[in-house]
Amino acid sequence: MPGPRGPRRPFAGRRVVLGVTGGIAAYKAVTVARDLTLAGAQVDVVLTEGALEFVRPLTFEGLTGRTAHVGAWEPGEPLLHIRLAREADAVVVAPATANFLARAAAGMADDLLTAVLLATEAPVVLCPAMNDRMYAHPATQANLRRLAEIGYRLAGPAVGPLAWGEGEGPGRLIDPDEILAHAGRALEPAGALAGRRVVVTAGGTREPIDPVRFVGNRSSGRMGYEVAAAAWRRGAHVVLVSAPSHLVPPPGVELVRVETAEQMRAAVEHALPSADALVMAAAVADFRPADPAAQKIKKEAGEVPTIRLEGTADVLLSTRAARPAGCVVVGFALETADVLANGRKKLEAKGLHLLVANDATETGAGFEVDTNRVTILSRDADDEHLPLLSKAEVADRILDRVEPLLSADGAR
Ligand code: CTP
Repeated sequence: MPGPRGPRRPFAGRRVVLGVTGGIAAYKAVTVARDLTLAGAQVDVVLTEGALEFVRPLTFEGLTGRTAHVGAWEPGEPLLHIRLAREADAVVVAPATANFLARAAAGMADDLLTAVLLATEAPVVLCPAMNDRMYAHPATQANLRRLAEIGYRLAGPAVGPLAWGEGEGPGRLIDPDEILAHAGRALEPAGALAGRRVVVTAGGTREPIDPVRFVGNRSSGRMGYEVAAAAWRRGAHVVLVSAPSHLVPPPGVELVRVETAEQMRAAVEHALPSADALVMAAAVADFRPADPAAQKIKKEAGEVPTIRLEGTADVLLSTRAARPAGCVVVGFALETADVLANGRKKLEAKGLHLLVANDATETGAGFEVDTNRVTILSRDADDEHLPLLSKAEVADRILDRVEPLLSADGAR
């Protein structure tokens, strides 16, 4: 799910060393360098000798506005590896070839990039990319285990088309948006959500009328997807219970796809017992057709069917017993009138810690837009009126309020 393009948390003002090694996928590193820079990071690119066969330093310099460093040791700055290593807030290597992983696993320092890895105390994200047989080789697998043991974060590889003529398999570099998400998680300072389990619901449920028609609503799922992405970035394990949505699921989250309110209720009930927080951003249908037809309803001459509706279970209310002690619960209220009064009623009635209220009639808020203007209500603090913000920023403001409410006894 591509985020907004401008400077943003946690990239703005941070320093990232982007290591590029010699594989076909090096072309994707160009996009990563650009996107990190657009997100506000200062990006120091370090290319290995092998990478030079695929991409040129000038390309990166044009996109980052900074010198791209090459190969081994450059004249003029003998301690360049120490400076880059010290200044980095995160090191990301994308693509990381089998050869590079072997050198890193062995703790070698025979070029600038491996020397930076040895000298840095910053979090390191390695994004493997290679032919599927090279990836499956026991030597590569042993190297990956060793690298994980050292504490490096491994991101990918994905399964998909490899180099020309090589078909599909595991070994493909993850997409630039995913690399950015992993870089974001590495840059995020350890906060209260690290290691916690967060359940997020998103999207609008669909209640079948017959096998091809449904009663639905206009929720795009964006608000919930942004909350899930931000919670994962802050180090949480995230279960995203999603009603149908066209959005690409955020990397890292455990996705549970559902369709109806009843399926959402069951999925939430299943995930809740181990949850530290539940953020209920889904637009759950309140009514559903009482007798969905087993076959497509045909257009009989002159007849218009009457669809009788019945109530669905309220997910927040009906899963209350499954909430573990200390679980922080956040609800949403999309209103068209008396926003705050209605929001406060829902806060009390549904036993919530926080309620995010917004007015569906306001421009830039509500369904099918990337922005939202919300007020966060809580049981014991003043209402927090937020300005018009991107949904990604709203997600962070919500999580800023969730973090202090988490029980002090650490992750479950
Ligand atoms: N919600 C829920 N189960 C439902 C309906 C809503 O858990 N069947 C949750 C929503 O995910 C949201 C909160 O309850 O977090 C408030 O949803 P909203 O639709 O605003 O309120 P309703 O309780 O449905 O009340 P009304 O439609 O009358 O405003």
